[in-house]
Order: sequence, then structure tokens, then C-alpha cells
Amino acid sequence: MQQTLLILDFGSQYTQLIARRAREMGVYSVILPHKTALSKIKQLNPQAIILSGGPNSVYAKGAPRVDKKVFELGKPILGICYGLQIMAHHLGGKVEATNTREYGKAKLSVVKASKLLGKKYSGSTVWMSHGDHVAKPPNGFIITAKSEDIICAIEDNKRQLYGLQFHPEVSHTKYGNKILDNFFGIASFRKSYKPKSIIDTQVTHIKEVVGDASVICALSGGVDSSVAATLVHRAIGSQQICIFVDNGLLRLNEYEEVLESYKQIGLNVKPVRAGNRFLSELKGVSDPEKKRKIIGKEFIQVFEAESKKVANAKFLVQGTLYTDVIESVSVHGASVTIKSHHNVGGLPKRMKLGLIEPLRELFKDEVRVIGKDLGLPATIVQRQPFPGPGLAIRILGDITKPRLELLRRADAIVREEILRSVIAKDVWQFFAVLLPIKSVGVMGDGRTYEQVIAVRAVSSVDGMTAHWSHLPHTLLEKISSRIIGEVQGINRVVYDITSKPPGTIEWE
Ligand code: XMP
Repeated sequence: MQQTLLILDFGSQYTQLIARRAREMGVYSVILPHKTALSKIKQLNPQAIILSGGPNSVYAKGAPRVDKKVFELGKPILGICYGLQIMAHHLGGKVEATNTREYGKAKLSVVKASKLLGKKYSGSTVWMSHGDHVAKPPNGFIITAKSEDIICAIEDNKRQLYGLQFHPEVSHTKYGNKILDNFFGIASFRKSYKPKSIIDTQVTHIKEVVGDASVICALSGGVDSSVAATLVHRAIGSQQICIFVDNGLLRLNEYEEVLESYKQIGLNVKPVRAGNRFLSELKGVSDPEKKRKIIGKEFIQVFEAESKKVANAKFLVQGTLYTDVIESVSVHGASVTIKSHHNVGGLPKRMKLGLIEPLRELFKDEVRVIGKDLGLPATIVQRQPFPGPGLAIRILGDITKPRLELLRRADAIVREEILRSVIAKDVWQFFAVLLPIKSVGVMGDGRTYEQVIAVRAVSSVDGMTAHWSHLPHTLLEKISSRIIGEVQGINRVVYDITSKPPGTIEWE
């Protein structure tokens, strides 16, 4: 039986981090919303529960609550920040606003060592991010740590209830991992979870579900669809037909290289060259959202037409990840559409196909581990994110074959030079963008009036936020002189120094 850590989410930006830390330590974890019904929690039968942080004050109108009976389940519970405050509030303690709000680093002072907190953690740095704090612990609890005068940790060892005012899951908390590990010890976790253990379970499950039907998969060359397809391949071999569409918007040599990797793995791939179709639909279109919509629609048409040719097709494979399915408060808050993302989410309903989502329980880093285990080459497993609409959203203005060619060659230089430098490991995504303007230059003795390339390089964890990378000037100089020297038609190179927010990573 797999032991599960349940994380009840109160909307903290760090909730997913808690789940990942746990999994890194061999503890399988799932995230559910704070308002999950007690019956569902009982059914899940978690080995222990963590109450996440959250942006609210427990006294605020509409502040998120948890069913009080979770504290009577007899499970070890750790409340983090808001999680601690809601536990104290529900169990009869007192929470109040701090005069000086504590954000960022603070010093921990352990006043009573316990199974959760060791004496040696005293004096170490912890990470705070909240305005409220516990003023009086509920009956049965003792105070185990403080920071200045603020209560930092409380516990009721008898009922196995623990609370921390700081965030053990962030790397700035020096003994954070140790504290989480101590909690997993208290909860008697075996710590035997490994992402690759899902390979065997999924292989058996897929075989059973699919029987002798055919399965279709849309391959993009990206990590998620490639790993999902390879896993399904292990289960049912060539009963899976993978459709890989060249939309004419891929990078230099990408189509051939990706196809070759798939062939080497032995995937049953049906390549479809549909570039002209996409380009003719995109002719004269320069509005970013229109481009995205046209490409999405075109893709669905091509894919549908191809899959109709597959006899006895009953299922569609999708590389859905855990981050896509978490019903997390912070993930599903009010949000506006900044960009319509190109994906195949609507396909299964349209085509009346069953879904196979072998990566549904995994985080991206776990998918990479599995991909490596399944024998996928590093070029795929470590691949940077590449948007579905491809180079179309990196060419501002009209998309034409000559402009695509210019961008492809400039982009290849940017990638080659950054990959060759030592800074490559710190940069998350890098590429070239072709701007819709011309500028004057001088080359040799002549005047030039040519196009402009912008170089984009950012560091990020998940693409939600990003910082522009501080590439060394010598590297930028090399990139610039190579592009201007080797790509005829470009006479100026600029570097994008915008982070996200306020910018986005892609220009369209
Ligand atoms: P933005 O530009 O929104 O991009 O800051 C965030 C991350 O998402 C990628 N991206 C896409 N990925 N389909 C995708 O699969 C899309 O339509 C799409 N648009 C942007 C982008 O490359 C970055 O990594």
C-alpha cells in the first residue's frame, strides 16, 4: 500500500513546493483544496496531513477554513504559517496581527527541543511570509521556538499536532528539509516513493485498459508528449500510432532531428508535413491572438484527418502533468487570458476518444527522471519549452518563408553560443525574435537598411515568472557579430532586458 501525504491548500505560492520537497524525500504527496470534504479525506486515508500557508488572515471575511474534524482523525498534522494559524484558531488558541509584519529572513530560537526541532537549529535562518501570528497556543500545546518575541513553533506531541510560523519548504530556511524529514519520521513514512515506480504500474494499467484497440498520440517533440508516448510504447508497442505534425514553424533542422530520435526509440511515428497549409492560413496575419487561434484550429484539422485513417482507434494519449490537474487555490484563482495557449485539450471530447494520461500524477522534474529511465536522449529530456505556435509568435508581423528562414538562422546562432557558454546552466529558455522594423546601418562603405533581431534569455522555474538573464557582454558581443556576419538581411541585434512580469517570455 502506498503511503500518502495529504497537503491541504490554503492558497500559498509555496504549496506545490511542499509537495515536491516531500516527493524528493520519497514521500508521495497530493494537493487538495482546503475545503475538501472530510469523507474524501478519510477515503484517501493519508498517513499525515500538512496544512499549507495562505495569503489571508484567519479573521478576514471569507478566510479559507478546514473541517475542524480533521484534527480528530488521529493523523499527524503539520500546519505551516496560515496552516498553523487556522489550526490554533480552530482549537481555541489566539491569533493576532503583528505590529511589524515579518517578511523574509528571521532568526530561529529553539526554546524547547522536540522530535520536530533540534537544539542545533537555534540561531539558524528561517523564511517568514505573513502578517499574523499565534499569540496564545490552544490548550495542550507547548511553545518550542520563537523569533524575537513571536511564537515560531508549537506542538501537541500527544495528539501529534505541529505548527510552524515559518516556511520549512523554501530553501532559505536552513534546516527546512530536516524539519520536514523529522515530521515524516514522526508520521512513520517509509519514504520509498520513486517517480520511476509509476512506470510498471502504468504499463500494467495501460495494457489492461487498451486491450487490442489502437491508440493515437500527438507528438510535439517536447518533454511531456515524448515521455508519455514512450511510456505507452512500453506497454502496447506499435498499437500506438504517434502523429508528428510539421507545421512549418519549427526551428532549424528540428523536424528531422526530433523524428530521428523517435525512430531510434522505436516509436511508431506517422510524420505529417503540413507547413504550406499553416503558412497559407497565416498569410497577412500579424495579430498575435489571431495567429494562435489559426494555428490551433489548423492543427486540430490536420490531426483529426490523420487519426481518422487509424483503424480501431479508441484512445488518445496526453502528456498532462500534475500541475495541470491540481485543484489548487493559487493555481485556479481569478485569471485573465493573456495568451490562448495552443494545446490539444479539446480533442478527446470532439473525437469521442478515451484518454490515457500516464503522467497525471507527476511534476515536470519527475517526468524528466522517467524519460531518462525510459532511454530518451538528453536532447529531448532536457529540452527547453517551445510554444505550440512555434516561430509564428517569435516573428512579429507577417510570417513569410524568407522571414522564417532569417529567424531560424539567427536563432540557431543564439542557441549554439549560449549552450557553449558556462552560463547555459543558469538560463532556462533562450531564443531569437524577429522584429517588424528595419533600421539603418553601415557595412564596409555602404549603407544598409535591414531587419532587427532581439535576443531573449530568461531564468525561471516554471515559466510563470522569469528574470532576464545577465548574459556576459562578451557572449552578447559574439552572438551579435555572428548574426550580423552570417545572416544576410539582419543589420542590428538588441537584447531584451524585461522580466516577467511585466513582460511575458514570448513576445506574442
Ligand atoms: P509566456 O510567453 O506566456 O510563456 O510568458 C510562458 C511559457 O510558456 C511557453 N508558451 C507556450 N507553450 N503553447 C505552449 O505549449 C503555447 O501556446 C505557449 N505560449 C507560450 C513559453 O515558451 C514559456 O516557456
